[in-house]
Amino acid sequence: MAFVLVAGGTGFIGSHIVQKLRELGHRVAVLTRDPARAPLPAGVEARRGDVRSAESLRSAVVGVDAVISAVQFPNHPVENPRRGHTYMAIDGEGTERLVEAARAAGVKRFIYLSGAGTRPGQTAPWFKAKLKAETAIRESGLPFTIFQPSWVYGPEDRSLNKFVTFARLLPLVPVIGSGKTKVQPIHVDDLAEVVAASVELPRAIGQTYELGGPQNLTMDEIIHTMLQTMGKRRPLLHQPGWLMKLVTAPLTLLPAPPLSPAAVDFVLMEEPVDNSAVLRDFGVRLRPLAEGLRYLSNQPRT
Ligand SMILES: NC(=O)c1ccc[n+]([C@@H]2O[C@H](COP(=O)([O-])OP(=O)(O)OC[C@H]3O[C@@H](n4cnc5c(N)ncnc54)[C@H](OP(=O)(O)O)[C@@H]3O)[C@@H](O)[C@H]2O)c1
Repeated sequence: MAFVLVAGGTGFIGSHIVQKLRELGHRVAVLTRDPARAPLPAGVEARRGDVRSAESLRSAVVGVDAVISAVQFPNHPVENPRRGHTYMAIDGEGTERLVEAARAAGVKRFIYLSGAGTRPGQTAPWFKAKLKAETAIRESGLPFTIFQPSWVYGPEDRSLNKFVTFARLLPLVPVIGSGKTKVQPIHVDDLAEVVAASVELPRAIGQTYELGGPQNLTMDEIIHTMLQTMGKRRPLLHQPGWLMKLVTAPLTLLPAPPLSPAAVDFVLMEEPVDNSAVLRDFGVRLRPLAEGLRYLSNQPRT
């Protein structure tokens, strides 16, 4: 069994990874900016650290065998440069600092949550930052595993749950774009199972795995599946991407904008993933969306 530090272990995906690691019998610590605000499962240690401060990371990684990084800036995907909440500051430079701290402390594995579509030549800020992080990891000399997930959903996500809230509160469901954008939604527990298993899987060392759910679905298909599971009927109201970018441009002046033009681009990106390497190496069963959304089926019906 290993001693694993999960950076971002208080977050949506990170907290599920912590749970899976515990089920596998690993000793787990969580890197958090504020241990007082982070209620953790019994037996999980909190270590204070911020990926913007190299010094804070040096003590956080002491004594651990493996680091898993699932850090994301608050209010993602809306960047806030005034607060230092940008892809480059957190995903890019923040991961570089964490990798360096892990290398200096003699950590034996570094496992990273990147994103689908990360490769050289991509121009969007999220891809540039993820590529910077991946490059730092590959060049560190640390035994690493990189995961490039498609869209992740689950009971506590902040994306599909927006549509759940719309469906509960509104007579229609607003959708950015044509609704034809395709993604491969993966249940958070399926992703967490694979990431946790990689800690002690020698063949995962040096690998970069794309992964998503077993279906390649349009946004409309995803929302219709969600509505069906909730037992609701709602028309979808599509809003063109260009219009949303126009409308959201002035919002970037707010202290915490709910949406931005770049976030509209993020939501509309289409990056198919190939699960074959994950299926080969992990033997996991990836659940279809209707099965993964069963947690919605006991919602009140209208
Ligand atoms: N969600 C998806 O659909 C999806 C898809 C593909 C890839 N990913 C990747 O998966 C990872 C996790 O995403 P998520 O959706 O689970 O994120 P999340 O729920 O927003 O969690 C963010 C985590 O990052 C930590 N954090 C924020 N700023 C930090 C800082 N400066 N220093 C240290 N920790 C900091 C937070 O911890 P504290 O607040 O406790 O400090 C929190 O635990 C990200 O790298 C993301 O790019 C996500």
